[in-house]
Amino acid sequence: MTAASLDSLTPVSQPYSVKLGPLQLSSCAVLAPMAGYTDSAMRRICRRYGAGMVFSEMLSAEGARRNNLKTFRMAAFLPEERPYFVQFFATNPEQAADAARILSEVQPDGFDLNFGCPVRKIISNAGGSALLRDIPLLARIVEATVKATPIPVSVKIRLGWDKQSMNAVEVAQAVADAGAVWVTVHARTRSEFYGGKAQWDWIGEVKSAVTIPVIGNGDVRQADDAIRLLQHTGCDAAMIGRAAMGYPFVFREINHLVQFGEPCPSATPSERLTAVKQHLDWMVEQWGEKRAVLDFRKHLLCYVRGLPHSVPFKAEAMKLETHLAVVDAIQKFFSLLPEIPFVQPPVHVKVES
Ligand SMILES: Cc1cc2nc3c(=O)[nH]c(=O)nc-3n(C[C@H](O)[C@H](O)[C@H](O)COP(=O)(O)O)c2cc1C
Repeated sequence: MTAASLDSLTPVSQPYSVKLGPLQLSSCAVLAPMAGYTDSAMRRICRRYGAGMVFSEMLSAEGARRNNLKTFRMAAFLPEERPYFVQFFATNPEQAADAARILSEVQPDGFDLNFGCPVRKIISNAGGSALLRDIPLLARIVEATVKATPIPVSVKIRLGWDKQSMNAVEVAQAVADAGAVWVTVHARTRSEFYGGKAQWDWIGEVKSAVTIPVIGNGDVRQADDAIRLLQHTGCDAAMIGRAAMGYPFVFREINHLVQFGEPCPSATPSERLTAVKQHLDWMVEQWGEKRAVLDFRKHLLCYVRGLPHSVPFKAEAMKLETHLAVVDAIQKFFSLLPEIPFVQPPVHVKVES
């Protein structure tokens, strides 16, 4: 394992431009695909605050195959989001290849195949992390997707199905042989869902075993975690999920720490207000006022979490129904806070099982 000392927080010795397979990224921190969260608005916000690249929410290959309008709306993106990979799950090679051909119309920078989703609905259809139990089929899905279009294909996996079958190294070797440009490892098994502690040692094991780049993922809650993950495992980039919810500044903080070797201050209320308003505006642009205002509620809860007076604010804000009313409320909320950096507490999101 290429582990550096966990105690040292010196900047990683890598150029600030990070090469990841066919891409040259401006940051070693990338936004995780998150169903229900990483729509175009959240991806734009995270890119604006320094995410090196972004992924769509997980789409269904079958949905693409059936020309499902919802699938296409979820895959759509704006040029400023690039580098942007569309993530989908598939259960067989033909379906995956068809989906890649159909979704190539959207012209993403790549496709990411999901072999990590632990959700029962997906598993019961033999998708997501269920495929970790059938490496030959998983590899054929990757190979078929790679052959279907010239667009690069990456893969996202977990450590294995459960602790008795931790096969991330074998899976990563198989997807590398099948032509994947990199592999992202969420350092938990399927049976752990999102609980327990991510086992970063396994990311290092995968990194030592394959020649394609490895993105490490799991439990990067703040900037110094990302540095520790890179140093501990030797992985090429860190993927950030929950820590980016309501706090896109995590990317700015990681980039600052990598570049200068010292932390930058947390976001101030006025910076948060700018981000939260922009995020809402972009959601309204994308989804229309009614849907955006409803969908934005979960983001708003994240944007204010841990801040003074957020509890009564949340109760009130959840009742607001117009764009104007939400903007008015968030303006009042943030303007009452002292203009000092507030450290972001960890997020607790209930994820469907
Ligand atoms: C609400 C939510 C939705 C998620 N949806 C997806 C998804 O669509 N595709 C995927 O590969 N992973 C998904 N994940 C997993 C994340 O990409 C990531 O692997 C996981 O949250 C661990 O990273 P973190 O500790 O930085 O949050 C989701 C996670 C959450 C919390």
